[in-house]
Amino acid sequence: MTFHKIAIIGGTGPQGRGLALWLARAGHTVVVGSRSAERAAEAAAEIEARSGAQVTGTDNEGAASSAEVVFIVVPWDGHEALVRALAPVLDGKVVVSCVNPLGFDARGAYGLVVAEGSAAEQTQGLVPGARVVGAFHHLSAVSLWESEEPLDHEDVLVCGDDAEAKSLVLELAAAVTGRAGIDAGALRLAGQLEPLTAVLIGVNRRYKTRSGVAIVGIDR
Ligand SMILES: NC(=O)c1ccc[n+]([C@@H]2O[C@H](COP(=O)([O-])OP(=O)(O)OC[C@H]3O[C@@H](n4cnc5c(N)ncnc54)[C@H](OP(=O)(O)O)[C@@H]3O)[C@@H](O)[C@H]2O)c1
Repeated sequence: MTFHKIAIIGGTGPQGRGLALWLARAGHTVVVGSRSAERAAEAAAEIEARSGAQVTGTDNEGAASSAEVVFIVVPWDGHEALVRALAPVLDGKVVVSCVNPLGFDARGAYGLVVAEGSAAEQTQGLVPGARVVGAFHHLSAVSLWESEEPLDHEDVLVCGDDAEAKSLVLELAAAVTGRAGIDAGALRLAGQLEPLTAVLIGVNRRYKTRSGVAIVGIDR
């Protein structure tokens, strides 16, 4: 396995912390990013205590500029402004979009219509030189943080147009869950993967569980 320096933008939130935990445990060098360097340092200390691996934290721009691979793990609200602001430091990097543009109303969660097709494609449009890959949309933050065992009964679906970047992220999926990621196709398919999370949230509510995605029919 090749080890990478990975920035987790939004790493103070539950999903970013959970991903950071498993990436750090797997031996990658993780830097947590936040709009506040202080919050980032606090989250990094928590992840470090939990993982036993050294984790640092700094502001989003500092984190992204110091890393080779940058995870975007922020809410859809504010996503465009954040990516626009970070565009100069994301240029040329592998950028992993984990963002699910979802709405919530009395009937539950639903996928929002995104003009660019998906959050991942919005990032690609704002930073044409970035090597954007969509992944990790369906892993539960609670499962990531609480599970002592690898989540190797779940699949990470990975989409992207840059073959080399996609294969790097397929390996990172294996680092997080313990089983190889699934090549889910081109970046435009993020438009199907991101709103699928609304279905999982509905299943979770009805069955009082933490559901996930597992693909059958693949020779592993
Ligand atoms: N939670 C899950 O189980 C889960 C599962 C799969 C995918 N996701 C996706 O992962 C992303 C993050 O989820 P989450 O539950 O961790 O979200 P969250 O806690 O609401 O946000 C994560 C972090 O993003 C930063 N942030 C919040 N609003 C922002 C804004 N307007 N601009 C820039 N940064 C902002 C905050 O960090 P600072 O205040 O420190 O900057 C926050 O701690 C979402 O797109 C979600 O759809 C979540």
